Amino acid sequence: MSTYHAIAWTGDTLRLIDQRKLPWETVYLDFVDYRDVAAAIRDMVVRGAPAIGITAGYAMALAARERSAQTVAALRIDLETAAAVLRKARPTAVNLFYAIDRVLARVADPRLDTIGAVRDAVLDEAHAIFEAERRANLAIGQHALSLVPEGARIIHHCNTGPLATGEYGTALRVITAAHEAGKGVHAYVDETRPRLQGARLTAWELQRWGVPFTVIVDGAAAHIMRTVGIDLCVVGCDRIAANGDTANKIGTYGLALAARAHGIPFYVVGPTSTIDFAIGSGDEIEIEQRPPYEVTHVRGQIITPEGAPAANPAFDVTPARYITAIITERGVAYPPFVESLAALMRAPQS
Ligand code: MRU
Repeated sequence: MSTYHAIAWTGDTLRLIDQRKLPWETVYLDFVDYRDVAAAIRDMVVRGAPAIGITAGYAMALAARERSAQTVAALRIDLETAAAVLRKARPTAVNLFYAIDRVLARVADPRLDTIGAVRDAVLDEAHAIFEAERRANLAIGQHALSLVPEGARIIHHCNTGPLATGEYGTALRVITAAHEAGKGVHAYVDETRPRLQGARLTAWELQRWGVPFTVIVDGAAAHIMRTVGIDLCVVGCDRIAANGDTANKIGTYGLALAARAHGIPFYVVGPTSTIDFAIGSGDEIEIEQRPPYEVTHVRGQIITPEGAPAANPAFDVTPARYITAIITERGVAYPPFVESLAALMRAPQS
């Protein structure tokens, strides 16, 4: 378990670690207004698909505690309003929508006939979403163990640790679980331009875990594969289509192509809450376009000529044919994913 907490419910507030300030400062922010939480998701105080979903669940709990509604019907309308605000925070990670839909489905129960009962149900659902992700993280680590050879050299992209998931991590959990099992792994950490989730956050988390690692610039990955030798790549996911096409942090697609060229297994790792069975392929995934200044500036310092145009797609879609397997808490899915992902969801859970 991590010694820091990306997300915590204090009883009165939602407490988030400010991920924009890491690794330089560890600052916690307390939220009481769901509108501020929506802004915090947009501004990336909290980021990472499962963490965004957990946060949205608690934002709904904050909305339910507002004092304006006098009837259960009015409270349900207020929750729909909050849901609409939160849905606009970021478009790509399906976990945001998954969590909001879970809460709304829970409060639709007609047996909730007092304001207090609705409020309690929303908070209970938020806790349940958090707990499910925590358990999923642990199960993912177990399912992945047999896929990691002794002494494996592993490339990881973006940040998928406790900061991004609430407790243990997903793709990063593959690495930390193998480390805990004594496999002697070494992680190569893509820095992940432009927001440097790898260099700032993954390196910070691996240091705390005591896992040996080396930070590399994103452009070095193919070179490291050819010269050092890499045994596997692990990446997270923001939305997986029913056919296995996967949206993840920009740079994932290029990494998958390089892995295929070198015959290296490429694993997508995430909870089943990140699978969107409503879409048939990655073509239907909205890719967030973030502000150009994230590309032209590093920590407030301009690095391009003044006025240089820049594009900043925050995610890309890796076609399923470049993915060796998708590791989830329900087990490992292999191609063809349209069948194996559906089979995972049908299988009884222990
Ligand atoms: O823009 P971010 O930092 O929210 O993007 C995060 C990623 O792309 C992660 O790899 C993904 O959400 C998986 S987190 C377990």
